Amino acid sequence: MREDLHIAIVGATGAVGVEMIKTLERRNFPASQLVPLASARSAGKTLPFRGENVAVQELTRDSFAGVDIALFSAGGGTSAEFAPVAVEAGAVVVDNSSAFRMDDSVPLVVPEINAAAVGKNNGIIANPNCSTIVTVMALNPLHQAFGVKRIFASTYQAVSGSGAMGIVELERQVGEIAANQEATREVYPHQIAFNVLPHVDVFLDDGYTKEEMKMVHESRKIMDLPEFKASVTCVRVPVYRAHSIAVSAEFEKQVSVEEARKAIITAPGIDLNDDIASNGYPLPLDLTGKDNCQVGRIRKDCAFDNGLSFWVAGDQLLKGAALNTVQIAEEVAKL
Ligand code: A2P
Repeated sequence: MREDLHIAIVGATGAVGVEMIKTLERRNFPASQLVPLASARSAGKTLPFRGENVAVQELTRDSFAGVDIALFSAGGGTSAEFAPVAVEAGAVVVDNSSAFRMDDSVPLVVPEINAAAVGKNNGIIANPNCSTIVTVMALNPLHQAFGVKRIFASTYQAVSGSGAMGIVELERQVGEIAANQEATREVYPHQIAFNVLPHVDVFLDDGYTKEEMKMVHESRKIMDLPEFKASVTCVRVPVYRAHSIAVSAEFEKQVSVEEARKAIITAPGIDLNDDIASNGYPLPLDLTGKDNCQVGRIRKDCAFDNGLSFWVAGDQLLKGAALNTVQIAEEVAKL
């Protein structure tokens, strides 16, 4: 493992960027220098890293000189423009946007599932969509046990998945409604406080949203399962942090709840929290700030012959974004 890495974070001031810096610090990532990058608005701000305040710099085409690994989380447009610039300057990019995920030459990695793909990178490695990561953390161990064919799923996605402004919008609307004022809208097309919106990302011609189809295409690539099918409804809920997903999955082999529990218990990065007798199941409030995802409510699906239904939740800013990105960077450091 290299010990003296220069790490740049593009989008360092954002909801995910801040978590990336904290994650590098608490996992003792072997970085000798951190270069926080953001828009011109943030230049001169400082961010804490290992007891020091590090100055944020404006992202420019010259930002990557001497950088070994660049972690990107500043939106697809910024990644599309600047990730090739970083690669040209000699950095390996780990990109949290959707810009390169489905590119055949770009590995799409959840280290617990396909860490070996990191070695096949051509300069860019993609971090999957947050709901997809949380879902496959539970689905892949079950797939290893029973062979998954298809899933039906609904997501319950926290507002921090829309970035720091999602949190601001929910907080503001709660305040406005408590003060008997009309809820003002900037981020979402409808009021998110005391509501749920069956709409995450843009609508496609077939009526699904882009976010819903990420679950299909990205899961196929991560689990190396080209025939995998998923019909998903993505829903934004007034939760600050941590995504939950209700999944019904159909398998090739006969399933048993006991074997499913065993598969989850022995898998890395996911814990079983399934004790209905004492109302024990994963909750976004409990998962906030936690590295591991949790799965519960595992039961035989009553509509499929070889089916399981379950509820999985995880902190989408950590395992769904910053933690998974840093885990990928750790794999890069080992190369
Ligand atoms: P800034 O804070 O200067 O706007 P979030 O997802 O929480 O909204 O954060 C987005 C992150 O991406 C922020 O760090 C933001 O920086 C950064 N960002 C957005 N647009 C650009 C851009 N054009 N160039 C560089 N950084 C950007």
